[in-house]
Amino acid sequence: MLIGVPKEIKNHEYRVGLIPGNVRQLVVHGHQVIVQKDAGTAIGLSDDLYVAAGATIIDNAEEIFAKADMIVKVKEPQPQECRMLRPGQILFTYLHLAPDPEQTKLLQESGAICIAYETVTDRNGGLPLLAPMSEVAGRMSIQAGAHCLEKSYGGIGILLGGVPGTPPAKVAIIGGGVVGTNAARMAMGLEAHVTVLDKSLDRLRVLDQQFGRRLNTVYANVDTIEQAVLEADLVIGAVLVPGAEAPKLVSRDLVGRMKKGAVLVDVAIDQGGCFETSHATTHADPTYVVDGVIHYCVANMPGAVARTSTFALNNATAPFVLALADKGWVQALSDDVHLRNGLNVAKGKLTHPAIAHLGPVVSPESVIG
Ligand SMILES: NC(=O)c1ccc[n+]([C@@H]2O[C@H](COP(=O)([O-])OP(=O)(O)OC[C@H]3O[C@@H](n4cnc5c(N)ncnc54)[C@H](O)[C@@H]3O)[C@@H](O)[C@H]2O)c1
Repeated sequence: MLIGVPKEIKNHEYRVGLIPGNVRQLVVHGHQVIVQKDAGTAIGLSDDLYVAAGATIIDNAEEIFAKADMIVKVKEPQPQECRMLRPGQILFTYLHLAPDPEQTKLLQESGAICIAYETVTDRNGGLPLLAPMSEVAGRMSIQAGAHCLEKSYGGIGILLGGVPGTPPAKVAIIGGGVVGTNAARMAMGLEAHVTVLDKSLDRLRVLDQQFGRRLNTVYANVDTIEQAVLEADLVIGAVLVPGAEAPKLVSRDLVGRMKKGAVLVDVAIDQGGCFETSHATTHADPTYVVDGVIHYCVANMPGAVARTSTFALNNATAPFVLALADKGWVQALSDDVHLRNGLNVAKGKLTHPAIAHLGPVVSPESVIG
């Protein structure tokens, strides 16, 4: 199969669909890979590394889209990219179609086979191609929060771990899933005093087993969240209710009663945020202040550590890319229900229940034939 990797064109997107190591893996399997010039240069993946891995470098995206049987990307295709897709061509990338009728329509018009990273499943009921980005965002939330606690960023001026003879900062993490667990790891590593609140006792049991006495686990309700937030120097919002907007667990009134110079990092901002005072920010201007409390609400945190994010994402996508290349999409999707769950649009038809509000949905099986 001929696999094409265009350079990402979304603003400030430096990630790349395939790393040289995965290109090499595909080449060893007898496939050809074409990579757009400078697709990975910004994150230290030079064209020379791709050539050494067996890829051919192509000057422009048009040629990649015109030639490739499968396009492997990171972000949803922009309108000009959608228009370059061909009937029957495979597109494997994040799509996030539910809030995006315009992109959905363009993908339908293309006739391409569009498989979304975010709806591929695993046998534990998880989302294996979203999890790496949650790992990154969870770990980064503590790094971002630690900076915001410094005086120059407007924070209270506390070092997360303190030093001998001074108390550490108190970190409250609301939601103990992938983001929350990774945030907890980082905060404990920096020797902060860490509490995770979750309404799932099963999650709290797992965390308790994993971290023992180093981590405080608390069952989340109005009362315990209020207590933890009022005591905290740093609060991480890490809840998820699948398919729904994030619940507002910290009211404006509660923010007003927090310590001045405390920090809120709302990782759940991509689902609307779990603090009433949250609104989405960007890496260019990541924070704002409400009632003396610093808010960090960047909706695309993994973008800031694009190199780590690219490798983490590639580790997760690699087996699926290989299966699609080796078997073709019909066989690969027939063989693997989890990859099949990734199919969102194919041959002009919508094929995923999460986008049923955008038009009639048919079963993936009916388009696979
Ligand atoms: N901002 C970013 O760049 C970025 C990056 C990755 C993920 N995210 C977002 O981070 C959020 C968390 O993702 P995740 O992968 O950790 O999800 P997850 O499903 O692994 O974990 C979510 C946890 O929230 C808990 N929860 C749900 N409702 C709760 C409530 N009312 N009180 C307490 N706990 C509650 C669940 O029990 C679960 O343990 C999601 O909104 C996700 O989209 C944002």
